[in-house]
Amino acid sequence: MSISIKTPQEIEKMRVACRLAAEVLDHVQPFVRPGITTGELDAICHAYMVDVQGTIPAPLHYTPPGYTPYPRSICTSVNQQVCHGIPGEKKLKSGDILNIDITVIKDGYHGDTSRMFFAGEPSIQARRLTEVTYECMWLGIETVRPGAHLGDIGHAIQTHAEKQGYSVVREFCGHGIGRQFHEDPQVLHYGRAGTGITLAPGMTFTIEPMINAGRKDIRQLADGWTIVTKDHSLSAQWEHTVLVTDTGVEVLTLSAGAPPKPAIVSR
Ligand code: MF3
Ligand code: CO
Ligand code: CO
Repeated sequence: MSISIKTPQEIEKMRVACRLAAEVLDHVQPFVRPGITTGELDAICHAYMVDVQGTIPAPLHYTPPGYTPYPRSICTSVNQQVCHGIPGEKKLKSGDILNIDITVIKDGYHGDTSRMFFAGEPSIQARRLTEVTYECMWLGIETVRPGAHLGDIGHAIQTHAEKQGYSVVREFCGHGIGRQFHEDPQVLHYGRAGTGITLAPGMTFTIEPMINAGRKDIRQLADGWTIVTKDHSLSAQWEHTVLVTDTGVEVLTLSAGAPPKPAIVSR
């Protein structure tokens, strides 16, 4: 596969799909409380996507090579779960942190975004990991402009995460996105500045760092999807879909409920 450059018409469709994905997160936010199950969160999001937005939940039955079909409409990754957690019957308890990852299809185009949520009050350590991971995502976003290199993104993320004593998950990365859920290029969340392909206007891709409080190593659960930290340390993730513009970057997955840029980012 090669990197697609979106036309102005395609960019407009990406803007719509991406805003809608973010609005699913806005919608589910007030339901994230101790006592609710992740399966109930999935049902709430599914109904909103299908019945209110008229979007298609891209994860449902998604089957990349080597995988079994994904059984739900969203991903919910709790505490030591890194990504691709399958919603189920387990209730959230006070102090849990979780990532909710939403991908919708609207008019043939994908929008992909995730945020961290707290059930009740998180520990100081969990809050800090969540905040630093958010800063990592934004520091990556801020490197994006025509002429920048893909490696600049990973370098910014890795540098900030490791300065705090955290580690960057290597096995999963950001990705081009558009008509397909996962397109070229792969957007690594670690690496060296000035390496990798040169960014050009019209590219759309995600930046979605997974940062572990402990070691970087992960393993997959027997369900074939859920990824957890090998050392059971907490993991956090945030995700935006972005567009390379003529002059810099446009974050496409913004909505009324999206948190503001962190103070560490100035532009
Ligand atoms: N939304 C995830 C990503 O950011 C992919 C989830 S694949 C699924 O790339 F099948 F688990 F939904
Ligand atoms: Co993604
Ligand atoms: Co996602």
